[in-house]
Amino acid sequence: MTDKIANFTYTRLIKEYPYAEDFFSTRELPAPGDEVLLKEYLEGIGDEELQDKGLIREEILPELAGFLEAMESLSSSTSISSLKIQGGRAKDGNPEAVESLTVNVGDIISVVGPTGSGKSRLLEDIECLAQQDTPTNRQILIDGNAPGNNVRFSMDKKLVAQISQNMNFVMDCSALDFVIMHSESRMVPNPTEIAHEILALANELAGERFTEDTALTNLSGGQSRALMIADTALLSQSPIVLIDEIENAGVDRKKALDLLVRNEKIVFLATHDPLLALMADRRVIINGGSMIRVIETNDQERGMLCKLEEADALLLNAREQLRHGEMLH
Ligand SMILES: Nc1ncnc2c1ncn2[C@@H]1O[C@H](COP(=O)(O)OP(=O)(O)OP(=O)(O)O)[C@@H](O)[C@H]1O
Ligand SMILES: [Mg+2]
Repeated sequence: MTDKIANFTYTRLIKEYPYAEDFFSTRELPAPGDEVLLKEYLEGIGDEELQDKGLIREEILPELAGFLEAMESLSSSTSISSLKIQGGRAKDGNPEAVESLTVNVGDIISVVGPTGSGKSRLLEDIECLAQQDTPTNRQILIDGNAPGNNVRFSMDKKLVAQISQNMNFVMDCSALDFVIMHSESRMVPNPTEIAHEILALANELAGERFTEDTALTNLSGGQSRALMIADTALLSQSPIVLIDEIENAGVDRKKALDLLVRNEKIVFLATHDPLLALMADRRVIINGGSMIRVIETNDQERGMLCKLEEADALLLNAREQLRHGEMLH
């Protein structure tokens, strides 16, 4: 990689690797001239300038190459176009009624069903990319193929981001340190800036604001969930997002959902909330541990959604007023 890019012009570098621009700006290096070869550019930087910036000439290109390779591996591992769930068996051991369900990038699928029916289990099967090795015997195919163990058990190239029902932060650090660390591990070019954005967003979603130096362990359940949602929305490169019961999290759920689905992703959303259920393109009905039916949201239901939204706004308003000690009138 180092040798390859040494002979690139800056124009070509940016065309093939648009994020390379950040490499120069974060090191405060002047952007190279468009048609200059990178090796010539490096020769042209004065010794003093390099010294001032604490850079070593011979190390710049290998560092750039390392940065590009890391970014490549992140993005190449995350582009998928479809996910298929091959049905397994219900709790009673009978085959699932829905034999298979294929979901394409850009689709939102809600997962509905009574308490204990198996909604979270379905999300867990997707999370671990089950290969007939979970209690449901389901199999998950990515772009039509069974993912290999390198994909299933990889820590840094995760296909799936999950916002789960029960979440605990056990780390002993501030909310800001945590998101900076997370941004750095995702190798975004400007981790501190993104971290501030994540916290601002989390505060927009959470009812009660928290400061950047609040210890993670002191966040309330709703605040942790808001932080997780903001973090996933701004940082996650995973093409599949699983959301388990956003409604009880004390966060602005519609805003949260809008945030999470704005990028081209596959979204599964387990919910008891009719509003969220109807926002999806399709819903899968779970009963007795089995996918029993898949229903497409039709126009009539979308019409109902408007009425439900009005009712919901009324309810939310009343909740806020009561929370703040006001009388309803
Ligand atoms: N097909 C299945 N075979 C065996 N066990 C199953 C199956 N589906 C679900 N279960 C088990 O049933 C239990 C309840 O399922 P789960 O927690 O997914 O319910 P849920 O629909 O998410 O409920 P809630 O609405 O309360 O969150 C879990 O222990 C789960 O592992
Ligand atoms: Mg559940």
